Amino acid sequence: MTQPAITGHGVFTPDQSISNDELVAAFNAYVDRWNADHAGRIAAGEVEPLTHSSSEFILSASGIESRYVLDKDGVLDPDRMCPRLPVRPDEAPGIMAEMAVDACTRALEMADREGAEVDLVICAASNHERAYPAIAIEIQQLLGCGGFAFDMNVACSSATFGIQAAADMIRAGSARRALVVNPEICSGHLEWRDRDCHFIFGDVCTAVVIEPAEEARGDHWLIHSTRCATQFSNNIRNNAGFLRRAHDQMEDRRDMQFMQNGRKVFKEVLPLVSSHILGHLSDHGWQADDLTRLWLHQANKTMNDFIGKKVLGRVPEDGEQPNILQDYANTSSAGSIIAFSKHSGDMGKGDKGVICSFGAGYSVGSVLVERA
Ligand code: COA
Repeated sequence: MTQPAITGHGVFTPDQSISNDELVAAFNAYVDRWNADHAGRIAAGEVEPLTHSSSEFILSASGIESRYVLDKDGVLDPDRMCPRLPVRPDEAPGIMAEMAVDACTRALEMADREGAEVDLVICAASNHERAYPAIAIEIQQLLGCGGFAFDMNVACSSATFGIQAAADMIRAGSARRALVVNPEICSGHLEWRDRDCHFIFGDVCTAVVIEPAEEARGDHWLIHSTRCATQFSNNIRNNAGFLRRAHDQMEDRRDMQFMQNGRKVFKEVLPLVSSHILGHLSDHGWQADDLTRLWLHQANKTMNDFIGKKVLGRVPEDGEQPNILQDYANTSSAGSIIAFSKHSGDMGKGDKGVICSFGAGYSVGSVLVERA
């Protein structure tokens, strides 16, 4: 059977970023305005006043120091608290497609391939800009790829589930060369006015090229095995969908944006992920000691520290389990791929690692790779 390999990877990083201090200043200005506007109702005990956020809390609770966004001004405008991304004409490339073309071009360059040599494009992300035509088909056209393309969504696990789908199709022969691309406009589904989560997300796009190892034109990563698992939970949820107008009174509801019960997620997802990775390693005949690196989903530093320790049976050494969330925040499905892309170039032939994502669903996906 064909051995699939990752032969290229790329990251599109927006040129605008927001530090915790900038974010908190805007949030606190919004809070002060809201409290002033609702002073009468607050005094009458009808509503609770909103409370300030703090950079110290954000750093200690999450490890996040900064995040990249497509539109900083809209997010930091206390009268708006949401990015400003104007509607584009149907003839112009969509925002997700534009981000994807940048990341895919970088990945193709590394693989020394042209768009025309790709016959499968999977656009795997936690939200899609429109229902149809698929964003992936637009990307396919913009890059001049052949074959077929489709969108998929498994929230934060979209990238690893996409890699499994592509690797399986290459093994089976239904595709020859794939791009799995993850454009994440998290700033569009984050409620920037909610203190509990306003610091969590950032925007980015990642892409990987997957093709038969025997056709690789440079250093590459053998995909030895993939494993996906899901278990239903409402603890991370977004109810925005195409029935929004058909349902009554759905337009302005808080649940039209990202919602989470962070504490429960923390407690429930940790054991799920560590046992998933350990089970996957063991079924494949690998030991934790065989791993040179763990590229984990990037949601929370404490969570990653815990998973790294549980999997390795000791505190990970510097660089063994790299985090990028301090600079990018949580970028949903793209997080583990950013970590992989930015922290794998130094590894030698034969070195092994695991890419692992986890999040809403719940969902967990792991990919066992070896440098070749
Ligand atoms: N600034 C200051 N204080 C804040 C705050 C903010 N922005 N947000 C919350 N607080 C306060 C809370 O009011 C609470 O105060 P209290 O103890 O007096 O009630 C305290 O800080 C702790 O809040 P809590 O929400 O329980 O924090 P936490 O330690 O659980 O951390 C998360 C919050 C979201 C960072 C953490 O739960 C997490 O990362 N969970 C997993 C998230 C995840 O992986 N999600 C997947 C998404 S794809």
